[in-house]
Amino acid sequence: MLNIVLFGPPGSGKGTQSERLIKQFELIHLSTGDILRAQIAEKTKLGLEAKQIMDKGELVPDNVVVGMISGIIENNKNAKGFIFDGFPRTIAQAEVLDKMLIIHSTNVALLLMLDVEEEVLIKRLTLRGEKSGRKDDVDINIIQNRINVYHSQTKPVLEYYQKQGKAFQINGVQTEEEVYSDISKVMSKFVK
Ligand code: AP5
Repeated sequence: MLNIVLFGPPGSGKGTQSERLIKQFELIHLSTGDILRAQIAEKTKLGLEAKQIMDKGELVPDNVVVGMISGIIENNKNAKGFIFDGFPRTIAQAEVLDKMLIIHSTNVALLLMLDVEEEVLIKRLTLRGEKSGRKDDVDINIIQNRINVYHSQTKPVLEYYQKQGKAFQINGVQTEEEVYSDISKVMSKFVK
């Protein structure tokens, strides 16, 4: 299995680049944000609880997110691999992911960190909010809180994988094609 963590602050392009990676490498796209939004759309109990938290730009509890992920990994044992987009977002999630993958005799091969400065993130998310109306994109205070939460709770995950020698930094302030070209250069070291 080839398991990739696509990492970066909100609006750095994780979803956009995931789409390209899954097409090229036939991996399963596992976006915890998308799964949660689907739960909200279906008005499930989990979705209704998550909505309150997501609308504030806070993180959904680790056990909720881990529960969603573990079922999908379990049901796709023969997959070529996964793109984890927006997960893990805390050290606790990273540790659980490692344990879950070990059970399936696999691991995280690499983490791709999309590096984008705050000013650009705010511009991108505000613009998307104007078009899509995504609740957590329409209020600058919520966007700012998501960025703050990223720095306080999620950024340590980067160090966690850096210590394992698995983290690669990509300049995310380029065109989508240029970002993917840089990702492809890193990928070529892992896929022959
Ligand atoms: P999630 O859905 O993961 O959102 P996010 O991390 O805030 O990231 P976004 O989807 O906003 O941005 P992205 O990096 O994917 O960029 P994208 O490609 O979309 O999480 C939402 C919420 O769910 C969280 O706040 C939390 O509450 C909860 N949650 C999710 N996972 C969780 C977890 N593991 N634990 C706990 N809670 C969790 O691009 C953004 C915009 O920029 C788009 O409009 C795009 O067109 C544009 N763009 C992309 N690339 C470029 C480029 N190169 N140049 C110009 N524009 C670009």
